[in-house]
Parts: sequence; C-alpha cells; structure tokens
Amino acid sequence: MTDAPGTTALPVEGVPAPRVLDEIRALRAADRPTHGGRLFAYVYDPGVAGLDELAQAAYAESAHVNGLDPTAFPSLLAMENALVGAAARLLGGGPGTNAPEVVGNVTSGGTESLILAVKAARDARPDVAEPRIVVPVSGHAAFAKAAHYLRVTLDPVDVDPVTLRPGVADVAAAIRPETVLVAASAPSYAHGVVDPVAEIAAVAGAAGVRCHVDACFGGWALPWLRRLGAPVPAFDFAVDGVTSISVDLHKYAYAPKGVSVLLHRNPALRAPQYFAYADWPGYTMINPVIASTRSGGPIAGAYATLRHLGEDGYLRLAEQTRAAVAGLADAVRAVDGLRLMAEPQSTVVCFTTDGDPDLDLFVLVDELTARGWHTQPQLRYAGLPASVHLTVTASVAPRVAEFGPALADAVAAARAAGPVALPPELLALAGTLSPAALTPELIGELAAGLGLGAGPAPDRMAAVNTLLDAAPVALRERLLVEFVGLLQRPTW
Ligand SMILES: Cc1ncc(COP(=O)(O)O)c(C=O)c1O
Repeated sequence: MTDAPGTTALPVEGVPAPRVLDEIRALRAADRPTHGGRLFAYVYDPGVAGLDELAQAAYAESAHVNGLDPTAFPSLLAMENALVGAAARLLGGGPGTNAPEVVGNVTSGGTESLILAVKAARDARPDVAEPRIVVPVSGHAAFAKAAHYLRVTLDPVDVDPVTLRPGVADVAAAIRPETVLVAASAPSYAHGVVDPVAEIAAVAGAAGVRCHVDACFGGWALPWLRRLGAPVPAFDFAVDGVTSISVDLHKYAYAPKGVSVLLHRNPALRAPQYFAYADWPGYTMINPVIASTRSGGPIAGAYATLRHLGEDGYLRLAEQTRAAVAGLADAVRAVDGLRLMAEPQSTVVCFTTDGDPDLDLFVLVDELTARGWHTQPQLRYAGLPASVHLTVTASVAPRVAEFGPALADAVAAARAAGPVALPPELLALAGTLSPAALTPELIGELAAGLGLGAGPAPDRMAAVNTLLDAAPVALRERLLVEFVGLLQRPTW
C-alpha cells in the first residue's frame, strides 16, 4: 500500500499500528502548533509538563465507556457529578451559597450547552407558541445556532461601540411576552468584556424570564482572576435572577476537547432540558444532553485534569495568564497605528488599527502568521471595525517578550506591503451580490481567484478576509458555506 497518509481510511489490508500512528503524526505536522504559546485561538494550553499525558491516559481509560446509561457505568456518573459540583462551587453555587440547589450536566462543548439552555427555556414555556430569546450581538454565535435549530426567534441587542457591552435599557426594551430567555456573556468571546450581568438578570427576573450567563469562555478564568485581585463584576449564581450558567472545561480548565458544563439554579429549571422517550419497543431513552451514546473519554480527561491541577494550580495558571495579557496589551499600545478595542478585562487582547489606510489589518494578520504568531481576524460588524483577537492562555507567558518586536516588525511589513487590492469589480460584486445569485460556476471562479479549493488553505488569507469583510452578513455566510464545502469532499 502506498496511499498518501490521510487519503484512504479503509485499506484492503490493515496497516500495522506503529505505521498508523506515524501517519497521523505526519498529518498533524501541517496543523497549527497546539503548544508553545503562539496560537491565540482554538486551543487552550497551560504549558504544564505531564498534564497531556495524564489527561490522555484518563481519556483512554474511559473512551469506550458509554454515558448513555448512568446506572450501567457508575464511574462516569460519579465523575460527571464531581465535575458539575466543582463548576457549581466555582460559580457561586452549592451548599451554603445563594444557590444551594444547583444541578447540571456535562455536555460536549459550549455550543451544546447553549442549545440546551435555550431548549430548557423554550420547553418550560409550552404556553408560548412562538418563543423568542434576547441576546446581545456580542453573544456567541451558538445562540443563533440554538435559535435556528430550535425554531426560536432571536432578538439581538446592539452593543455600545466603545464599551462593547449592551445597554440594560435596550435589553429590557427587547423583552416581550414571548421571550423565554435573556442571555449575557461573561465574558464575550470577541472582545473579552463582561456584560452587566447583575442588571441584565434583574430586568429578566422582573419580567419573569430566565437569564442564562454564557461563561463558556471565561467561567473558569474569571473566578481565579478575581481571587488575584482583578476587578471582576458579579456574573455568577451570586446574582439573583441568573437561572443558568455554562462553562467549558475544554477552555480555561485546560481539559481535552469535548467537555462543557451546563448548570441550572435548581432541578425544576433543568427538568425541561431532558429528553425522555418510552414510545418504542427498544430501551427507554432518557437523555440529559443532545447526544445519546456519549464517550466517557472527555469526562475522565477533564476529571483527571481538574484533580491534578487543583485550586492552587488554576490560581498559578491564572496569574501567568494575567501577566501575559498585560504584556501583550502593552505590546499593542507600544505600536503606532494600533489600538486596543477594549482594556483587557479577562483573558482576551483584541486590537484594531487607528484607521491608517496604509495599514491593512488582514495583511498584518498574515505577516504575524508568517512570523509564527497565529492570531484570529474578526470581520467588521454593525459599526464595529475589523479586529484581531488573541485568546491568551498560561503558555503564552514565557513568549510575551518576543511578541512586541514581532508585532512591530509585522506592522512595518504590512505597511510596506500595502493594503490588499482586490479587483474593484470583485469588491463591488461582494457588496451587491445576493446569496441566491451565487451559482456553482461563480463560486468556483471566486474560490479559484482567491486560491481556495481542494487542498490546504493558502498561507495568506488577507484577500479572502477582505472579500468577506466587504460582503453583507448573508453573503459572508453563504460564501463560507461554499468555500468550506469545497474542502470537505471525500477522498477515495
Ligand atoms: C462565550 C462562548 N460561548 C460559547 C462558545 C462555543 O463553544 P464551543 O466551541 O465549545 O462549542 C464559545 C467558543 O469559543 C465561547 O467563547
């Protein structure tokens, strides 16, 4: 067999184990570096020696265990309950607190937690024929996905262009009789700012509506930052009116991917989250989450990670992260032509340009990539400029001193290269084309022109980002579906 790694999943003759692993490692070599503190999105790396090995061993131990039936596999039930208890305690719940009856479940990730928070809120109100949810535009896109999947209407609330937070009066005004849930972020992913949770929960509570705090991103970071003295506003179950909170363990709890926790203030609030079905001849199905069969791997991996790091470990990692955030923010402030979108309040550094037409943010992102620093471009949206997002984790701390010079160098290179110049007719097309008018031929031409197609994405993405930035939201969505669809084709 001489097929290239990653092309044939089912060879005629089985391949020896060491070779299979070698193939996977060869494929992984093309990936962005998950360790080393130079990738500012997608991965959360504490840089703790031995933690990967521990989590992987724990994961492997439970990978074939099925969370479908907690009575058949009490090991998973025990570990899940312990994870939920830890999350609840960290977020202001549990015995002796303002929320002594907190319950929760482990889900596969933040998106699933948010979908289930919306489902629980929707199904708690069978009297509402056309349910709606109120979500600040800075809320994670998974709320929109939940609304889409669950046929709930999304009522977006604008954020202030300076504070990047929603106004409480605007949230209150968006609540209608059909509203089943109001959302707040702690913090928002894009800019890392914490919404005015206490005020939002108060207006939701006054209207008799549930309030979900999306702490998927920062729920495992903010409490430690607060203990270190950072001015973190109240955002958890200490706030009356907060009915549910999501926190992802595969983010700042540094567990392997596939673990989030969705908490409800009490069992009655959680009940409509479950799906039970006895109206068929097979086993009675009772699922707290979307998946039915669930691997025990992520739960065991998270359990091992939390137990090994402990409170002292997370505090230490938060201290390193806080220092890294401060250092990166200083590096941004030191460069002429850049400005922070907001003063860092959590673990995000987000910056934009000060409007200098010679400095193209998307070219800057490519220049940083070329220097081994992988950042995340964010397109302009609703009056907010395009920006660059850095998710900062503990592993970044030792690299901070190198970032400033690299950023200055990348900015100089971006200025020298000048802005992306897409053909004016292409830009005009992006601004005016309706998604419905996109034919396969046109998509093929656009993709080819931008260097997209089957095979790896181009090293330089500034042209793609410029085109998307020029397009209205609906066209952005459609173009991305089509472009990614071109990549996701079977190999034979
Ligand atoms: C605030 C927030 N909510 C939800 C999510 C969705 O999480 P996931 O990607 O695990 O589904 C994210 C992911 O970054 C997030 O930052």
